[in-house]
Amino acid sequence: AGGGGAASEGPKALDELVVGFAQVGAESGWRTANTKDIQAAFEEAGIELKFSDAQQKQENQIKAIRSYIQQGVDYIAFSPVVETGWDAVLNEAKAAGIPVVLTDRAVDSKDTSLYVSFLGSDFIEEGKKAGLWVLDQYKDSTEKVNIVQLEGTTGAAPAIDRAEGFADVIRQNPNLEVIESQTGDFTRAGGKQVMEAMLKSNPDIDLVYAHNDDMGLGAIEAIEAAGLKPGEDIKIVTVDAVKDGMQALADGKINFIVECSPLLGNQLVDIIKTLNEGGTVEPRIITEETTFDQEQAIEALPDRQY
Ligand code: AHR
Repeated sequence: AGGGGAASEGPKALDELVVGFAQVGAESGWRTANTKDIQAAFEEAGIELKFSDAQQKQENQIKAIRSYIQQGVDYIAFSPVVETGWDAVLNEAKAAGIPVVLTDRAVDSKDTSLYVSFLGSDFIEEGKKAGLWVLDQYKDSTEKVNIVQLEGTTGAAPAIDRAEGFADVIRQNPNLEVIESQTGDFTRAGGKQVMEAMLKSNPDIDLVYAHNDDMGLGAIEAIEAAGLKPGEDIKIVTVDAVKDGMQALADGKINFIVECSPLLGNQLVDIIKTLNEGGTVEPRIITEETTFDQEQAIEALPDRQY
């Protein structure tokens, strides 16, 4: 990545800077926390933030980015709903001399000069952490373990990478088998609907791996409606660690959560400030994250910000 961003006439005053942010949507508790954090960080820094919600549609995000280009904003930041199909609009931003920062999710563009930096989690690592817990949980099992996977939005970096990281790890034990995998689009309603169908077609599910808390929480509703105990009859592993997920973990309805932090606002502001002053930023900035079991969730819940 490159793309520059050095202000040719020297840095602008912060209250003269305008940043356009194209958000994915409001599909999950994570996303809501991410939006709030970014808006609060820009407000506190005194930098104007234009914000748009794409309602999980790539065409809306592309429209929003084109409109930011037309308005002549100083910087564009966005969290791409899916990985593919960004080259045209990113080339338009580059031609207009507007540096782009990716937050949270990656694009698959070969030309890394189309964006200055990618700030966010390592989703493959998150999938691996989920897989390692499952591997350890069933290390003594001699029987087949039936796993169902609730995937995030089809084509989104976290859905692709979390599936890949998980599969890479669990293949070490041939008893662990993903018997069904469907998208729940990162929403609670999607997770519930997919889980209901999975319970009907698979009478013997041992574990649910959900790509985010919201889908896991939807799965809990479906499992309870089927007269089973989530966390006991069917184990649940999720990613995010938002408050609702952590509460379900503390209550024993989820068994393990891999953290994915939505708090990217201050780091994004720092990137914009550095670019405004003509400095360079790292092309990849990875968020630091942990994992939680039940005890750790009980301990962390009182101070959880989101
Ligand atoms: O891109 C991050 C993912 O998107 C979060 O895990 C999920 O909750 C959100 O919708």
